[in-house]
Amino acid sequence: MRVHSWTSITASVALMVALSCWAVAVGVVSGQAPAAQRDATRFIEPPGQETDAMKQIIDKAKAALESGKSTTAILTGSSYLTAHEWPRFRKQIRDSAQPSPVTIVSEKEPGQALIVAGRVVDGRGQAVKAVVIYFYQTSDKGWYSDQAAHIGGMEGDRRHARLFGYLKTNDEGRFELRTIRPAGYPHSNLPAHIHVEVEGANSPAGSLITEIQFDDDPRLTAEWRERSQREGFVIARVTTDSENHQRVEVELKMR
Ligand SMILES: [Fe+2]
Repeated sequence: MRVHSWTSITASVALMVALSCWAVAVGVVSGQAPAAQRDATRFIEPPGQETDAMKQIIDKAKAALESGKSTTAILTGSSYLTAHEWPRFRKQIRDSAQPSPVTIVSEKEPGQALIVAGRVVDGRGQAVKAVVIYFYQTSDKGWYSDQAAHIGGMEGDRRHARLFGYLKTNDEGRFELRTIRPAGYPHSNLPAHIHVEVEGANSPAGSLITEIQFDDDPRLTAEWRERSQREGFVIARVTTDSENHQRVEVELKMR
């Protein structure tokens, strides 16, 4: 029953986080720009039933993964870019999560290159190995879709964000995600962030749903910083290497 309990808690908290972001995005929380300044195309509908063409693309991705292609190859492959928001494609990526660095953006994705490196630990600081981590984020325009800032529907962006990936921690509990620096939502003052969910349903270490935010983000005012710390979000220090890649190093502590 513990498994069901954690699954239920994880789903509930994830929904709360997603709804919290949605609430800020639509202006339920203060800090919203006046209505006249808002973009009328902020929301699109999530994908519905697979078209025949999309079914073929996703089937091809499934076969490629089953034949040993990496999730990086599929997530960055030009043949599959239109499939990212579709649930069955996402499940294939989830089921193929590996304990190796994962790149989730193609070379054509606009934005500042960013490496998110880190470690997952339990409450005693011990490494949590072979646990699946789900990441999703906005583009450098602050959009979850390539057509609008947000994707409507239940749990909207969490289930359909275009830029996403899954990986597993290695034997030292470490992981590495290669992506681009996300921008904050348009017409909002919410700090830029990467959503992170560590799947703990079968782990005695528990589970974790959090966000990575960036210490140098101009939106991260003292007020937002206090709120983020209260929420248990990770505020990461950003460094830049000789190849102009930004890098953050984070510790994700299971609760
Ligand atoms: Fe978000």
